[in-house]
Amino acid sequence: MDNSSAPLNGTWASRWVFILAATGSAVGLGNIWKFPYIAGEYGGGAFVLLYLLIIALVGVPVMVAEVMMGRRGGMSPVNSMKKLAGQAEVTSRWKALGYLGATAGFLILTFYSVIAGWALYYIVAMPTVLVGADTEQVAAVFDGLLASPMTMLLCHSVFMLLTVVVVLQGIYRGLQRAVQVLMPALFVMLLVLLGYAATSGGFNEALAFMFTVDFSKLSSEAVLVAMGHSFFTLSLGLGAIMAYGAYMPKEVSGKDGRRRPVSIGSTVLTIAFLDTLVALVAGLCIFPVVFANGLEPGAGPGLLFQTLPLAFAQMPAGIWFGGLFFVLVLFAAWSSSISLLEPLVAWLVEAGWSRPRAAIVLGLAAWLIGIGSVLSFNLWSDKTLFGETVFGTLDFLTTNIMLPLGGLLIAIFAGWVMKDSHARKELNMASFKVYLGWRVAVRIIAPLAILAVFAHGIGLI
Ligand code: PHE
Repeated sequence: MDNSSAPLNGTWASRWVFILAATGSAVGLGNIWKFPYIAGEYGGGAFVLLYLLIIALVGVPVMVAEVMMGRRGGMSPVNSMKKLAGQAEVTSRWKALGYLGATAGFLILTFYSVIAGWALYYIVAMPTVLVGADTEQVAAVFDGLLASPMTMLLCHSVFMLLTVVVVLQGIYRGLQRAVQVLMPALFVMLLVLLGYAATSGGFNEALAFMFTVDFSKLSSEAVLVAMGHSFFTLSLGLGAIMAYGAYMPKEVSGKDGRRRPVSIGSTVLTIAFLDTLVALVAGLCIFPVVFANGLEPGAGPGLLFQTLPLAFAQMPAGIWFGGLFFVLVLFAAWSSSISLLEPLVAWLVEAGWSRPRAAIVLGLAAWLIGIGSVLSFNLWSDKTLFGETVFGTLDFLTTNIMLPLGGLLIAIFAGWVMKDSHARKELNMASFKVYLGWRVAVRIIAPLAILAVFAHGIGLI
């Protein structure tokens, strides 16, 4: 590779490292905390099926577009968009898409760190204050956490520090090393927990709950929730995957020493498959515990932090498995949060900043804004903006507005603005039919679907 096209921020060592990093970004609180509770709330099997369909029809094509644009751009999302717009001979204002995404990622980081901090707290609480706890005691621990700004601030600070420490070390010593440890550990822990869940009763009920499809349970809102979630869970629409795509090698050496192009299509399929697998396995770890203890699967956002600790606290050796479970949540959230910070850091590095300085300044800023989310659960819980707390406003603004908008613009750019020949060359797909299928998805299916989500998000439908 000639140096002029080598990304300033580095390149992943191999296709597998890219897969680990992108899977690390995708697998996070969305899979372990959110997916089980929304699947529980929206009726189980039918929702799961719908989610799988949307991942296949919308999520995968948009992810292919994002990785493709990132790799072709080879820089931070802002500068990649500038470069791609130049190549497509359209206005360089398209770089606004990069700013939009990087800002969204940064804002998500501010509250993602607060929720991930809860997992950190439960790692300690599970084998200590939660031992043998009953319903009221478990509720009291959760309420106590929410009511204590200092405890939440401490956990939020530690988590933000973990994120910054990885990002400031750059691709090779930071991100690459982190995902190579975190992701295999995550998969091993998930398997251990699955084994535990499969043998501790309630497993068949969990299987039936998740895979018996009853369409009468499906509401129109469920369709939109499934769609929004498929974007969030695959980390789409905010440039995180675009930034990671920029570090993806164009070629790798095969065993015979010959250089082979790295296929974006099959790589993305692997990532989407792993992300989906983790969400399903997380469900299969959580629901048996829920059913074995006669708990409520539609308990909502508290499922992970209230219902589950209760079940673990009551089981033999449950506190240890419970502790392990929250280590898993922490690792998943950690490998996602680094991808939220990376796009902006990469952009500042391209502007001449040193990486440590960029990571520390941005991390500090995100930490500071995050305090608003910490206080949303206690001191500022009655301070609202448009009827929402700081946390609620940031969550709404990013998930329901910025993310769908970013995804829509990415689909439009890849499908309508970029030259067909450029997209085709970068994707380098073996089958022309598959390429055509992707093009239809990205030009028509994805934009229409995202517009529907967007309209729902701002309350139009
Ligand atoms: N995909 C992550 C999750 O499921 C969240 C995330 C979104 C991370 C967007 C990076 C970018 O938790």
